[in-house]
Amino acid sequence: MNSNSSSQTKPPSREGFSTNLGVIAATLGSAVGLGNIWKFPYMTGENGGAAFIFVYLICVFLCGLPVMISELIIGRTTHANAVGAFKKLAPKQPWYMIGVSGALCAFLIMAYYSCVSGWVFSYIFKAASGALTTTDPTKTTEVFTQATSTIWSPLFWQWLILFLTGSIIVMGVSKGIERITKTLMPILFVLLLICDIRALTLPGASEGLKFLFNPDFSKITGGVILAALGLSFFKLSVGMGTMTTYGSYFRDDQNIPSTAFKVMISDTVVSMMAGMAIFPAVFAYGVKADVGPSLLFITIPTVFSSMPLGTFFMILFFLLSSLATVGAMISLIEVPVAYLSEELKLTRTKAAILTVVAIALVGSTATLSSSVLKDTLIAGRNFFDTYSFLTDNILMPVGGLFITIFIAWKWGKENILEKGSNYGQLDNTSLLTNFYHIVKFVTPIAIILVLLSGFGVF
Ligand code: PHE
Repeated sequence: MNSNSSSQTKPPSREGFSTNLGVIAATLGSAVGLGNIWKFPYMTGENGGAAFIFVYLICVFLCGLPVMISELIIGRTTHANAVGAFKKLAPKQPWYMIGVSGALCAFLIMAYYSCVSGWVFSYIFKAASGALTTTDPTKTTEVFTQATSTIWSPLFWQWLILFLTGSIIVMGVSKGIERITKTLMPILFVLLLICDIRALTLPGASEGLKFLFNPDFSKITGGVILAALGLSFFKLSVGMGTMTTYGSYFRDDQNIPSTAFKVMISDTVVSMMAGMAIFPAVFAYGVKADVGPSLLFITIPTVFSSMPLGTFFMILFFLLSSLATVGAMISLIEVPVAYLSEELKLTRTKAAILTVVAIALVGSTATLSSSVLKDTLIAGRNFFDTYSFLTDNILMPVGGLFITIFIAWKWGKENILEKGSNYGQLDNTSLLTNFYHIVKFVTPIAIILVLLSGFGVF
């Protein structure tokens, strides 16, 4: 990608994704990651199961997906980074602050995401050493606690991951991002399928399925709905500039609503598959469903340990999961990097180094929240939880809110119909008209209500 290309509308030198499949793979590569295999299951466990999933799905349809389509259209129209896009569409107006807050949000997500990604990477080697070959959750809990509560080893993994991701970013968009994600996704999918089959045939698996599919709505509170909304944004990588940035690399003939829809469906399927691998094991082996962020690391080893060739599959699982986290991290780091290189005119390499070093520094506080900084709390939360809370519950929903307000109220229907249909090339006027009404009324009102109830205003 060229670092000084923001001033033209469609700069020929600005690199983008090269094929339709590449576009879907890269966008899916951003969406699929720790959110599916780690965050979705543990939040479902903490918030009571099926009813939470039900609310989550509503949030995906009414908020996450519409914001995703909005961002992709804005990005592709401007071919600019998350800040530059708004500067182009509304020069000399403060709308570009949406992009600035997005870049900050991406940075804060990375601070804790890279920590968890480091845990996943280290688990490839833990699995290979045989330390995880057990169906006893007390043992896997012990391994997890030991792995995360030391100082240097988790930091080493976090920094290694950041170095790796930074290097891919420096290599550029289509070469780095596309190639890696295109090969990765299908293999991860097959592995999850194997995992599901084993988990669903464990004795007592039906309890897990009940937990996932039999809703108990008494568990739903304002806070739970806000958590589901935050998760829907986190899952689809929206509300913070990633999809605006990725949209800017889209080809002009790409069908945006259809791409977004496909990505959303595939992403949801992967999350459900992860849930179906984890919850039967939770009930079969007596793990507490609401243990929180350690859930994946405690249960997945027990599932693999109860199948033939378990250690081999377990290594493969953590390997592929690590690579999936890299796909998501690339898209996160890309937001501040594209901003720094295109708006502040740093070279791409300098922008990447600066971003990665800053994340390593701030991110260390998230990693050390399991050890030396355990008792350092901000408003009752450690650093790790603070970054997650700020981004999930405030920055992404508020970002999404302003993006929909911008696209519907400021930019308007004409633009949506024109750009969303690739200047009339696609026959999707009625779909886009519905989309326009949703982003004009439904999504912003829903987000405002959820924010108000999540913060206890009513
Ligand atoms: N969607 C990614 C995941 O589920 C995380 C992410 C959030 C990536 C925001 C980019 C932007 O793992």
